[in-house]
Amino acid sequence: MELSVFLKNCWYVAAEPQEIGRHLTQRWIVGEPVVLYRTEDGQPKALEDRCPHRRASLSKGTLVGDEVQCGYHGMRFDTQGRCVHIHGQDKIPAAMCARAYPVVQKWRWIWIWMGDPALADEALIPDLSYNDTPGWTVVGGTLHVEANYQLVVDNLLDLTHETFVHSRTIGNAAVADTPMESEVIGQEVHVRRIMQGTPAPPLFKRVRGLQTIDRWQLIRFQPPSSISIDARGYPAGSDDISQGLRWFSINAITPIDERSCRYYWTITRCFDLDDQALSQLIHDQILATFMEDVEVLQAQQKLIETDQRGRPEISVRADLGSVSARRVVQRLIEQEAQPAAGAGHA
Ligand code: FES
Ligand SMILES: [Fe+2]
Repeated sequence: MELSVFLKNCWYVAAEPQEIGRHLTQRWIVGEPVVLYRTEDGQPKALEDRCPHRRASLSKGTLVGDEVQCGYHGMRFDTQGRCVHIHGQDKIPAAMCARAYPVVQKWRWIWIWMGDPALADEALIPDLSYNDTPGWTVVGGTLHVEANYQLVVDNLLDLTHETFVHSRTIGNAAVADTPMESEVIGQEVHVRRIMQGTPAPPLFKRVRGLQTIDRWQLIRFQPPSSISIDARGYPAGSDDISQGLRWFSINAITPIDERSCRYYWTITRCFDLDDQALSQLIHDQILATFMEDVEVLQAQQKLIETDQRGRPEISVRADLGSVSARRVVQRLIEQEAQPAAGAGHA
């Protein structure tokens, strides 16, 4: 299992839009310190959070107009990371530059490109359009997880665990009992599980009053770590989703380092759009559900780290999606390491 190398030529979610404003915010992303802020006209920007002078943390400094002033000796850097002011001297060494990272706000999240800026292309941002589609309403949040990001990706690509971890909300026996199918399409991995005439799980009963349903889970993985799940519950034998439940569970996992990550999630639904109490219920129930995952994942991380025997993991049929996703990312990391690396996953 490769847990030590991150794909760099790709977009990761850096923050939720409301987290970044006219102040300096530090984030560690793929093992690198980043300072995020907005310019006076509201554009999100990101620099390496390491002053090129003596390596102080720029995020501990001050935002002066659109310039970041280091909190140690007061040098100022523009949005491109170029030093534009040194107290007590006029000449600015050309090398006095902090690295600037491309940043884009899209699909209700702020994305950052941690690799070669020349390769940053907005068209490569994973398609999470249901986060921002008229006729759909969104709840969501961010979790800090003390586990390698791949463990979260694995979790979302094999929903067998719903039966055992989430029996209070979205899990019941039908999930684990129904085989899934997995397919690699280009650089994406798609996993399908269709359950016919099955009891609705507890949360589907609460949200839509469903009893016996045909339940669909259509999972789409886009590298490096975005997973959207098209979740549907039709009244059994019907193809009328207007009487059922349909939402997307949209997830983007950003490595902090090899043993922790930030887990950005939303649920976006296309029914009862203005029902605030329902939005709160879904938010709270899904958050509780994901906290059950976090408990499993953090324990798993600790046991992986402390396993001295180096035994290989043993995979089963239900792991096919997550194993395929790891292969895709591994291949992209290998491509990126080649001398003439192009845009990793154009
Ligand atoms: S360390 Fe930033 S100005 Fe000296
Ligand atoms: Fe889960």
